[in-house]
Amino acid sequence: MNKQIVLTAKDLSKTFSNESVQQHVLKNLNLNIYKGDFTVVMGNSGSGKSTLLYALSGMDRPSLGTITYFVEDNNRALKKTDGGIEISKLSNDKLALFRRNHAGFVFQQNYLNDSMSAMDNVMISGLLKSKNRRELASRAKELLAKVEINERDSRKFPTQLSGGQQQRVAVVRGVINKPEVLFADEPTGALNSQNTTNVLDILSELNGEGQSIVMVTHTVAAAERGNRIIYLADGVIADECDLGSYIGDYKDEQNPYREQAIERHRKLKDFLQEQGW
Ligand SMILES: Nc1ncnc2c1ncn2[C@@H]1O[C@H](COP(=O)(O)OP(=O)(O)OP(=O)(O)O)[C@@H](O)[C@H]1O
Ligand SMILES: [Mg+2]
Repeated sequence: MNKQIVLTAKDLSKTFSNESVQQHVLKNLNLNIYKGDFTVVMGNSGSGKSTLLYALSGMDRPSLGTITYFVEDNNRALKKTDGGIEISKLSNDKLALFRRNHAGFVFQQNYLNDSMSAMDNVMISGLLKSKNRRELASRAKELLAKVEINERDSRKFPTQLSGGQQQRVAVVRGVINKPEVLFADEPTGALNSQNTTNVLDILSELNGEGQSIVMVTHTVAAAERGNRIIYLADGVIADECDLGSYIGDYKDEQNPYREQAIERHRKLKDFLQEQGW
């Protein structure tokens, strides 16, 4: 089955200039992201993973190169080239509009607004796109229930929730607008192991329902959730590994696919070892 490309990056370069020094972080990088994939980006600290994620998602602009999305959008202001929308050429306003409609985000720090309830944090994001408050509220409730935030907790302020609960709310906020791609930069980086598993389970579930995800991570346990692992080094994609979809925890004795899961885990470890990880 041919996978559909949701976004394509061509000859992407990002250079940071500090005083007299130029740092080339991304160097003519080429990459397709496919619909329905759970793509994981790994690489050493400072290799440019976050920089790549911010460029792909339109949060920052590349110095050179193009990023084209193949998504439905009837906004006539978003000019299409070859059937796609090239976001690197959009004005700031249009880029913000594009992001709001097509991209979702989860970060290591949840960046929830502490002055409003968990529910309102989700609703505010949703209302930027949808005007149907009722429909939105019901989707928000459904999603919050899915990540096990009950009604009472959804009325709390973020500071009244645990770190794990806050991050689950942040995931819900990331997907409330049904983005074509959910971008996550070390979404479990600040969580303990139980909460990490919990948030990863939610991401796996969303991906199982068709949500395309691009996630940066440093851990094997998180990477294992992906079906495609990309390894960044020296500003380019050094190599990638096709893992196949997640088939459950390889350590779980109740996992009916345990044998294959162990194989899959080995494949990932071997791949990372080859990269000198
Ligand atoms: N706004 C910026 N201005 C100047 N240099 C930057 C900026 N953002 C990133 N860099 C530099 O670009 C390089 C790549 O940074 P990036 O944050 O993409 O790395 P990373 O792979 O995400 O690392 P980590 O795993 O530690 O999060 C680093 O050397 C960093 O110092
Ligand atoms: Mg980073």
